Amino acid sequence: MNKVIKLANRPTGKPVSSDFKIEEIKKPSPSDGEMLLKPKFVSVDPYLRGRMRDVESYVDPFKLNKAISSPIVAEVISSENTSFEKGDYVTAELEWKKYQLSNGNGLRKINPDLAPLSAHLGVLGLTGIAAFIGLTEIGVPKEEETLVVSGAAGAVGSVVGQIGKIKGCHVVGIAGSDEKVELLKSKFGFDAAINYKTTENMSNAISQAAESGVDVYFDNVAGDISDGVYQNMNNFGRIINCGAIALYNATSVPTGPRLEPMMVQKRLSMQGFIVSDYQEKFPEAVKQLAKWLKKGELEYAETIVEGFDNIPNAFLGLFEGDNKGKMIVKI
Ligand SMILES: NC(=O)c1ccc[n+]([C@@H]2O[C@H](COP(=O)([O-])OP(=O)(O)OC[C@H]3O[C@@H](n4cnc5c(N)ncnc54)[C@H](OP(=O)(O)O)[C@@H]3O)[C@@H](O)[C@H]2O)c1
Repeated sequence: MNKVIKLANRPTGKPVSSDFKIEEIKKPSPSDGEMLLKPKFVSVDPYLRGRMRDVESYVDPFKLNKAISSPIVAEVISSENTSFEKGDYVTAELEWKKYQLSNGNGLRKINPDLAPLSAHLGVLGLTGIAAFIGLTEIGVPKEEETLVVSGAAGAVGSVVGQIGKIKGCHVVGIAGSDEKVELLKSKFGFDAAINYKTTENMSNAISQAAESGVDVYFDNVAGDISDGVYQNMNNFGRIINCGAIALYNATSVPTGPRLEPMMVQKRLSMQGFIVSDYQEKFPEAVKQLAKWLKKGELEYAETIVEGFDNIPNAFLGLFEGDNKGKMIVKI
């Protein structure tokens, strides 16, 4: 039996279970040049929320009543394609289906000896790569500078903070629970961490945790949390806009303090980026991340949800802070 998860509605505000539907479909058989893939690990990511809107963006919107797709690690079950063999593990953006065909386009073979399969969706996948590229190419942190990371206990944030420590920075993380704050300090080596849900004045909390001010701000969330960080930026500070999850479900245009006078006075730079624009740097990023992993300089966490039917719930959980590290569904 085969199953597919489709987008049933374009969500308004926070997505809900009824925005998705699960249907039974026929299991396909590969023709010449094709192979049958069975997803083993499915990545659910905040950016999928953007693809549920019918608006032009850097990536096409999902179509209503069609399969949703995301980064997936799959096993080749049978192959009529000479470049792939039964038993190979591959990764690509694939559909939320229990079985699916591929002609090999866009598939990358993965080495299961390098790290556990699921790690190829997190620390060695797009989120780890985004952390590496965003911080090293745009933030360019120098030794002894202060780095603040929002969404710090998530897939991208937890890697960013650790790279900051490797580069010799004072690293402050912001996350949504006391348990996550503890994890940031004990497992990931952050110097300080702030629970934004129990912090009344983020600007004061940042000024206490980052006594010398903030040189680099790696922003995964935007909104009120970031407003508090901006107040503490040092001259020539760099703000990296990686994500804005606090605003992804907004139903009207979010507004906040005007930053322009401060940007001028403090000579700040602010740059958004999309990791897929840096494809040529992926091999270098994965090589470096794998090296740090092997040397024990980089730790990672995963929240693994089990079962194909639970993919939508795992996705919804991202907006509730259910994950520590990378949110992954094991099929
Ligand atoms: N630019 C790129 O190329 C690129 C690539 C990958 C990811 N991203 C972006 O980077 C960010 C992090 O992605 P990720 O995959 O690492 O996700 P993640 O951080 O592993 O998961 C999302 C986390 O966001 C936090 N969150 C949810 N709602 C929030 C809110 N209203 N305010 C503040 N925090 C909230 C939750 O943690 P708490 O418990 O701390 O609230 C949740 O665990 C996302 O914004 C994503 O879109 C960008």
